[in-house]
Amino acid sequence: MPLQPKIEVCLSPVMLPLYDLSDKIVVVIDILRATSTIGVALEHGALSVIPVANVEDCQQYEGEGYLLAGERGGAKVEGFKYGNSPFEYMNGAVKGKDLVLTTTNGTRSIMLSKDAHRIIAGSFLNLDRVCEWLSSQQRDVMLFCAGWKNKFNLEDTLYAGAVAWQLSDKFEMACDASLAARHLYDCSRSDLLGTMKQASHYKRLAGFGIQQDIAYCLTPNQINVIPVYSDGRMTSLVE
Ligand code: MLT
Repeated sequence: MPLQPKIEVCLSPVMLPLYDLSDKIVVVIDILRATSTIGVALEHGALSVIPVANVEDCQQYEGEGYLLAGERGGAKVEGFKYGNSPFEYMNGAVKGKDLVLTTTNGTRSIMLSKDAHRIIAGSFLNLDRVCEWLSSQQRDVMLFCAGWKNKFNLEDTLYAGAVAWQLSDKFEMACDASLAARHLYDCSRSDLLGTMKQASHYKRLAGFGIQQDIAYCLTPNQINVIPVYSDGRMTSLVE
């Protein structure tokens, strides 16, 4: 049997230095909600999304024709027009615009992946597209869970498991984290929302009354774009 490419899962940003990313495609995962929202903004016509680490970096772009967007602790950054809800980006206002986005974990994780061969953003919203594209690349993959402030989280691991589950026949599960994520997804896939109701970020976001964001971000295959990171910005992958 020919050698299969490998799938690894990194369960938290704090574990990322344990891995060599140089020859790998990294799929950054922040289901609630950064990588879901980036995909939606690009799907709805944004030219690019520039991920930045903090609010001050975001403010540097003020007055330069960029749309500033930011979230901290789940809430919109005070004074910013846009936050981190996918629903904010569906009304056509981002069409033809460049967005500058800072979020608690997701944008930082994109930047932490800079040594990778290629970086894309994964979400349930583009699950099948991501799996099809990864299959076509024949290259080792790192599924990188942004987690919450360096801690493990359920939603990103469930998505890593969904990708591992879909690609099981074509990729080797190269670490115990890939096996664990796949198993977790297999046990939960009939009721992802029910599983998520126990999760810490579900409770955090539910505290802001935005359960619709959570339900939407767990819904597979709502968008066609794959956000890809290059030269400091995420754009729609063109093959
Ligand atoms: C993050 O980057 O931590 C998140 O996307 C937080 C959120 O807005 O739910």
